[in-house]
Amino acid sequence: MRTLWIEASPKGDDALSSQLAQAFLDAGDGVGEVERFSVWDEDVLRFGRDAAVAKFAQLFGEPITEDQHAVWQQVLAEIERVRGFDRLVLSSPMWNWHVPHALKAWIDIIVQPIASFTLNERGEHVGTLGDGKPLQLILTRSSAYDGRHAELQDFQKPYLEYVFGMLGYRVDTLVVEPTTRWTPAEREQMRAEAVDRARAAGTQV
Ligand SMILES: Cc1cc2nc3c(=O)[nH]c(=O)nc-3n(C[C@H](O)[C@H](O)[C@H](O)COP(=O)(O)O)c2cc1C
Repeated sequence: MRTLWIEASPKGDDALSSQLAQAFLDAGDGVGEVERFSVWDEDVLRFGRDAAVAKFAQLFGEPITEDQHAVWQQVLAEIERVRGFDRLVLSSPMWNWHVPHALKAWIDIIVQPIASFTLNERGEHVGTLGDGKPLQLILTRSSAYDGRHAELQDFQKPYLEYVFGMLGYRVDTLVVEPTTRWTPAEREQMRAEAVDRARAAGTQV
């Protein structure tokens, strides 16, 4: 089995979400090869004007420039790279009630009509990228979004579950919250308990 680990925290090994993803993956040791991919990598394609124009021009059968064609080939190549994996693991903190912008920017590359999803005869979106493959979300956030603070709204978990479910993945979610604790001892206890939960989830794979 080949796993793509999509890492959305820019803090690398210092990130709690990354440490949890590592524990999850280590627990499933022997389940195959893992590729670690940070959405903050400078080589990630920037989906800008040419890509945005190409996206709809092609759907409408309109001509596109050479530059637009070239950027579109990179978009398709990224989708095919992702399709080549048997499982995705996505670790992400919450940033301003949503996901870090680098993750959203990468999602804007891989979510494309025809290439990663289509419409059925009723006009409903149907994913063609995931094909029922598993995707594990590992999410961290400073506050608690479990209802104890009714005024707090969570756009991180519902968004990621929606978009990857729409792409055809079988999504499972591990949420660790609230991650802000005021003493080093409390923080370490929270981290250790969270790592145990991630490890337990990883052994069930
Ligand atoms: C730019 C930024 C924005 C954040 N916004 C939120 C937020 O809206 N809600 C929340 O609960 N935590 C927020 N946090 C806190 C992080 O989600 C939290 O510290 C998380 O545990 C960090 O995970 P990481 O170590 O995996 O990066 C924010 C952190 C940063 C750096």
